Amino acid sequence: MSRTLTIPRPDDWHLHLRDGAVLRAVLPETARHFGRAIVMPNLVPPVVTGADAAAYRDRIMTVLPDGMDFTPLMTLYLTEETDPADVAAAHASGLVTAVKLYPAGATTNSASGVRDFDRVRPVLEKMAEIGMPLCVHGEVTDTEIDIFDREAVFIDRVLDPLRRATPGLRVVMEHITTQQGVDYVTSNPENLGATITTHHLVINRNHILVGGIKPHYYCLPVAKREEHRLALRHAATSGDARFFLGTDSAPHTDPNKESACGCAGCFTATNTLSILAEVFEQENALDRLAGFASENGPAFYGLPVSTDTITLTKGDPVAYPPKIDTGDGPVTLFDPQMPLHWHVT
Ligand code: NCD
Ligand code: ZN
Repeated sequence: MSRTLTIPRPDDWHLHLRDGAVLRAVLPETARHFGRAIVMPNLVPPVVTGADAAAYRDRIMTVLPDGMDFTPLMTLYLTEETDPADVAAAHASGLVTAVKLYPAGATTNSASGVRDFDRVRPVLEKMAEIGMPLCVHGEVTDTEIDIFDREAVFIDRVLDPLRRATPGLRVVMEHITTQQGVDYVTSNPENLGATITTHHLVINRNHILVGGIKPHYYCLPVAKREEHRLALRHAATSGDARFFLGTDSAPHTDPNKESACGCAGCFTATNTLSILAEVFEQENALDRLAGFASENGPAFYGLPVSTDTITLTKGDPVAYPPKIDTGDGPVTLFDPQMPLHWHVT
């Protein structure tokens, strides 16, 4: 029996599109299903100024295939040299939607991130004043903190003090991976939201490490214990509008993943919606998929929900290609290790 579900066209509130040949190859994978995406600025060199963001947006729009309708929502990479006036001007002109905070060294291409949070206080204050959201990669980088604890420690040591120091600031905790992340969001006021990735609803740390190391399941923040995966599934399917989809689809070519020092990132743009439908169905929450994927994000960002729709139809398993080709080499698609029955049209 086929079932269908029609929802407003979804958006992706945390996406890596890269540049050059990889951008050209991955952009259609997102634009096929999603109307908008918050585009991460961690290029090399990073997207730091309004001028950088304008140039990157042009490069994205240049390779968007004819007939595809997609709006990149640009972000700026916060550095200790970021100029509050440049940020405010880029936001006022509609060019830039949010600013991204990476603690220096926390993840892929984050060397220019913030070490001394006092040095970015004027930017955060300006953002609070103009209502511009801060997207936060919430992990400490101290070598003595266990990698599985870095999100929880970040909340206590960095995020909570930062929010108290700048009370009006709208903050998105990006790609939360822990019960502590969920609890921090639910116990705080409405100016705090969180994105949850597709893959963190599916894998726990065993998927990375049991039976041989699986580089394509390695991402940052790293997947945690099963109890945390369950907390994320509960939050995503709860109907709480503070949780919304940010795939963190982060393509790296196979040689860069399958390496003695492999890059962090799961590439999920292509099959995300089929996976999410499967997960929400497993949780008896298909009626909440629209909230998570299409409505809660725009509400947090103060943008309209899409007036377009997509339809998911349940049928025989969908055959997604295991890899996509790019001019720089193949990129492996995230394997959810379960049949996906929901087709997207
Ligand atoms: C991201 C990337 O590859 O740019 N990697 C990842 O594992 N998620 C960076 C990030 O969002 O942390
Ligand atoms: Zn990311």
